Amino acid sequence: MSAHKATCISCSNIAFIKYWGNRDAALRIPLNNSISMNLDHATTTTTVAFDAALNDDEIVIGDAPANAAQRARVIAHLGRVRALAKIETRVRVESRNNFPMGAGIASSASAFAALSLAATRAAGLELPERELSILARQGSGSACRSIPGGFVEWLAGSENANSYAVSIAPPSFWDLRDVIALVSTEEKKVGSTDGHAAAASSHFLAERVNALPARLARVRRALFARDLAALGPAIEEDAVELHLIAMTSAPPIYYWSPGMVRVIQAAQRWRADGLAVYFTLDAGPNVHLICEAQDADQVAARAREISDVQQVIVNAPGGAARLIEEHLF
Ligand code: PMV
Repeated sequence: MSAHKATCISCSNIAFIKYWGNRDAALRIPLNNSISMNLDHATTTTTVAFDAALNDDEIVIGDAPANAAQRARVIAHLGRVRALAKIETRVRVESRNNFPMGAGIASSASAFAALSLAATRAAGLELPERELSILARQGSGSACRSIPGGFVEWLAGSENANSYAVSIAPPSFWDLRDVIALVSTEEKKVGSTDGHAAAASSHFLAERVNALPARLARVRRALFARDLAALGPAIEEDAVELHLIAMTSAPPIYYWSPGMVRVIQAAQRWRADGLAVYFTLDAGPNVHLICEAQDADQVAARAREISDVQQVIVNAPGGAARLIEEHLF
């Protein structure tokens, strides 16, 4: 039986240059390259077991059966794995996050990365990293960046076979921290799949796509030079631009919230006082405060003092998606 069961742990990731908008929505081929850091304290653990005795797939997320939308998306992904392995067998899937889902920490990134590795191994496949990244991308775009370790670039490509992520520096390369200030743990109202689809209706999108090659180069240069003063402004620009496009899409999408703005303004004040901290945002209300390791305690302590902040999660650069021996069932 154990040959048909596998468990994977995978990190979520925070994008320094964001993925927002697709060239091909069905295959999740993005408009642009994106660059991210894996988050070692925001992880998903998933166990998959193929079982010929099952008549239907059983999918449990957290402590409860998956809802209809989650179930459909997971089953579509399992269909890709079954097609690769040329099997029909039903599965039991159990998945656990150590952070709140759908609230601006990319839970779909770690979830589909973990599901891709666990399901392919349980099906008896050993895919190389690139193929795993291609598979994960089809479940959730940003999941392709949670397959490799450390600092990662997703090469946009133009078709299924050339759109995947690669590690551009290992976790040990730079002792950065992402101090996540959780402003809300509620599930967001507009999922990123709908956000990507709406992006083209913003007339700012074309301008963003034109500006990105230069910003991507700035971020790569700053990362390779471990230069936070150069990285910070570039990631702040990119985060605000994502929200600009969301807010100018038809219909407009407001992930922006008063608490989030208060955290951003606090970070700007701390920086004016000499603390080297920069913010980035995802498609949710939480703020990711990027700093170097030596400043992380101070940033976390100050974030905890803001009344809008419910919880703080400090992340170092995380490793690649990996198999573990401790199964969830
Ligand atoms: O992977 P998706 O479809 O959930 O899109 C992720 C989009 C952002 O998190 C907002 C940006 C990114 O690049 O991670």
